[in-house]
Amino acid sequence: MAPTVLDGTALDPVRRWLLTTDQRGLADVYDELRAAGPLVPTPWGSLLVTGHRDCARVLTGRTWLTIGARWRDAHRPGWRHSPSTVALCRSALQTDPPRHARKRHLLTRLVAPRLLPRLEPVAARRAEECLRALDDRLRREGTADAVAAVCRPLPAAVLAELLDLPPVDLDRLGAAAHDYSRAAELVRTPGLVRRADAAAADLTDRLGALIDRHRRRIPPPRWCEPEPGDALDALLTLFGAGVVTTSALLGSVFLALLENPGAAARIGGDPGYADRFVDEVLRWDPPARVVTRVASAPAELAGTVLPEGRVVHVLLGAAHRDPEVFGDPHAFDPGRPPGRLLAFGAGAHYCVGAAVGRAQAVALARGLARRVPGLRLAAAPRRRTGPNFADLDHLPVAPRIPACFPRGRAEGGRP
Ligand code: HEM
Repeated sequence: MAPTVLDGTALDPVRRWLLTTDQRGLADVYDELRAAGPLVPTPWGSLLVTGHRDCARVLTGRTWLTIGARWRDAHRPGWRHSPSTVALCRSALQTDPPRHARKRHLLTRLVAPRLLPRLEPVAARRAEECLRALDDRLRREGTADAVAAVCRPLPAAVLAELLDLPPVDLDRLGAAAHDYSRAAELVRTPGLVRRADAAAADLTDRLGALIDRHRRRIPPPRWCEPEPGDALDALLTLFGAGVVTTSALLGSVFLALLENPGAAARIGGDPGYADRFVDEVLRWDPPARVVTRVASAPAELAGTVLPEGRVVHVLLGAAHRDPEVFGDPHAFDPGRPPGRLLAFGAGAHYCVGAAVGRAQAVALARGLARRVPGLRLAAAPRRRTGPNFADLDHLPVAPRIPACFPRGRAEGGRP
């Protein structure tokens, strides 16, 4: 079997991959990495997996385990002092079979299928509320941050309503979920870990208190039916996994619609086109860009036998630009034939909330399509650093013609 693992020549694209956050820059980096080989070594001893087929094989293969407690005990002593890392390792996301099945079962019971009939109307109503808040701010101030008005608040609001949580401070819940999810980052600065730990502690206190208050009700609400520890893990997991990812998708949909006004016009005339548009955004820049796994036994990948313990990073973004699966991969084309998206993962850990995230993106695309002719980017968007998530920090927008949002007039143009 010919060795395909490279020598150190690929270090530069790896460093660029760590530092690049905008998806156009990343497209070039993905091409360079792919040219370097299917498995590109990193300076920290792991491999980047660049091709769609190999990424899918890792995600679906039984040999490949998550970076859970056992791996951390062996390689990251001291990790148990970090509450966010402990919470992450208790979640389904970093639990392996056979324990994974029970955790996943609890999550799927909470998320599906009972709430699915409510999903579209809830997502549409909440998206419209956020868009109206954006309209109001544009009227009052002339510019507004679409991330603060729409992309950040919408996911926590939809999830809380679908789960039938009692009234909670959604802004604080959403912000804490964002900070907590950073525990999964590949590049973890001490500041990031401190924020993630504080957020995990805050979420644990607040969601724990909510569960204690409500589980004595008869019958108990669905979200606190399981044992208290399980219910807390489940809520932490759903908010940790579902808020930052959906927020990233909403930011990418917003930006892509501003950049493709023709698509906005098409969605206006054919609401079904919004689904294809969202699929193409998911392909173009998957909200979760990296999934990490470790080989539990010697494993063959891309023609190489990798030893037990070898860590690989599955590059979902690079897989989606693989020309063997997606023709003309760097063209943004919602009309392209469907290909196998890996944006929600694959195999045992396939995303529990895929329908929830997607429904919000489709609702946003439909609501925004009506507004796009009157909107423009007010300045370059600001992206968060780090290779894991595609979320935006700041997306400033302004009316194309200020009169479209006359100051001092109430919604709907009434004086
Ligand atoms: C656009 C939005 C979303 C994207 C792109 C996304 C992406 C992903 C990906 C890639 C995975 C697999 C991780 C792995 O294999 O290690 C995953 C798992 C997961 N997602 Fe999502 N997700 C989204 C929204 C949501 C939402 C809204 C929820 C909650 C309602 C959610 C809950 C979960 C959970 C609980 C898992 C772990 C499943 C398991 O380990 O069995 N996600 N997601």
